[in-house]
Amino acid sequence: MALSDEFLQELKSRNDIVEVVSQYVNLQRAGRLYKGRCPFHHEKTPSFCVYPDTQSVYCFGCHVGGEVIYFIRKIENLDYIDAVKFLAKRAGMDMPEDNFQNNDNAVRQRRIYEINRETARFFHQSLTSFSGTEALAYLRGRGLSNKTIRHFGLGYAPNSFRLIDYLKSKGFKDEELLQANVAHMSKKGYLASRFFNRVMFPIMDLRGNVIAFGGRIMGDGKPKYLNTADTPVFSKSHQLFALNFAKNQSARTLILSEGYMDVIALHQAGFTNTIATLGTSLTQQQANLIHRYADEVVICYDSDNAGITATERAITILRNTGLKVRVLTIPGAKDPDEFMKSHGDKGPSLFKVILEQSVMDIDYRLEKLYDKYDTSTTQGKIDYLTQAMHIISISDNPIERNLFMAKLSEKFDMEKSSMEESIAKIRRQEKFRTLRNEKSQPLSENNTVNPEKKANHLGAVAEEYIIAYLICNPEMCQYINSKIREADFVTTFNRKVFTFISGRINEGKSVELVFLSQQFSEEEVAYITAYVSENARKSFSREELDNCINVLKKESSVKIRKNPSELVDEDLRKIYHNRRKNGV
Ligand code: CTP
Ligand code: MN
Repeated sequence: MALSDEFLQELKSRNDIVEVVSQYVNLQRAGRLYKGRCPFHHEKTPSFCVYPDTQSVYCFGCHVGGEVIYFIRKIENLDYIDAVKFLAKRAGMDMPEDNFQNNDNAVRQRRIYEINRETARFFHQSLTSFSGTEALAYLRGRGLSNKTIRHFGLGYAPNSFRLIDYLKSKGFKDEELLQANVAHMSKKGYLASRFFNRVMFPIMDLRGNVIAFGGRIMGDGKPKYLNTADTPVFSKSHQLFALNFAKNQSARTLILSEGYMDVIALHQAGFTNTIATLGTSLTQQQANLIHRYADEVVICYDSDNAGITATERAITILRNTGLKVRVLTIPGAKDPDEFMKSHGDKGPSLFKVILEQSVMDIDYRLEKLYDKYDTSTTQGKIDYLTQAMHIISISDNPIERNLFMAKLSEKFDMEKSSMEESIAKIRRQEKFRTLRNEKSQPLSENNTVNPEKKANHLGAVAEEYIIAYLICNPEMCQYINSKIREADFVTTFNRKVFTFISGRINEGKSVELVFLSQQFSEEEVAYITAYVSENARKSFSREELDNCINVLKKESSVKIRKNPSELVDEDLRKIYHNRRKNGV
């Protein structure tokens, strides 16, 4: 991928990393850097750092790190070129022509979008054709109007090979149908449709592209739902059903349900801000996505045990993402779809009432807890209140905590001060516990990026310090070059990094991490970012730099003595030079 230096430079300077990240993460200034809660893993204490100096991010908890394009790739789930386009658009820049036109990955994705669109069209037409009679009756029997069926583009996958023939007649190749996962290779070696005799739910991305399908069997039988597996355009843990419709809400509240049918029934009833996950439990990435369109989520899961467990999990993830959370409990029905169906015309207005009655997550948890204890006994009361303090303590808002304490204090006729004390203690312990867990994960030594590090640990650590120092203090390049050369580097990988960085500085170019992606893979850039950040955290000193230079020189002469066959010309020259100097 050859984007010019000039283009990348401009892209980078027009997309300041602090500004870009701020759109996803609540950042707080901490000296020369900014900190926030990592959007890529669960955490309560911020260990996600943004460095304006190197225009990079790094998480000390999960070790994700890189420059602005990398950040956008990860958080928006885009490939390299789409992330560049995303940032170019954000900054109002034009993309250079033909760079992305020929990009393999982009071409493949575009073909899959086209296959999916054709497939959705085929399924939808099948539904209204003779072969779809039973499927249409099934959907109508589940209470869906023609308008709803059209709006969601519902369809029918017939019991035949017609889809494959249809797509091939449109010029798609076998391999492409397999990549899109609309077909699979049968044991007998011919291509067969993935979906047979099912009603089909197209899944769309935010731009309205069809990216996958869910297919339901029309009676009992397994699996009840069959979904598209992950493809180059679809990842079930990153996407949400119907967010393309629901995102247009001005209210910034979304209703989160469990299934396709729940979403469709609620949209039909006028609750067009409903979304669902895609057959997996809620992920952090989905919570981040929700947060872009909402400040509040109403969880509306099935009323069975699985739904209750899933609600608990979702509360934790959503709250940690910074969303307000409410929980809606459906009375007398398994799920919202059944609720709507059983109440007929009255469904929408009744649902509106229970939606208004939905309670805050803390209230919900306190109620669930209350059912577990017999608070007419002293012990029951102690146990309930002790556990209740844990529930309240998860709130980071002192006013919120106070209100809940006040409620309990009134209910149990008890002093609030003892609750305050108890909650403060829980919060201290929790902070200590998470700090210990989050900060102490060591950077994996078992890395594939620099496999030589294992055998040359000391040297590699010194190399990493020197490279980090150089990146953060490019004005010291001449000094470093006068003390140490490429050939002194003991690991091939770090030697390559050093050559690249000092080369850029010597040419008068800047060394922000964004330029590493021209030369290094994503995994490599993440690894470099990790050690630059880890070293920068301890802060740099000239003394430590000199120390590392000496260590590295010593290590490199040891290595040369041990493995003479690996010598490069430069090493040889050095040995001769040393020997002459020492009179050998
Ligand atoms: N699901 C799935 N695979 C299955 C079962 C369920 O992917 N074998 C996903 C689907 O996205 C489904 C959701 O989980 O919409 C919820 O499943 P479930 O509660 O079983 O289905 P309902 O939405 O109630 O579906 P229906 O009303 O059609 O029975
Ligand atoms: Mn259902």
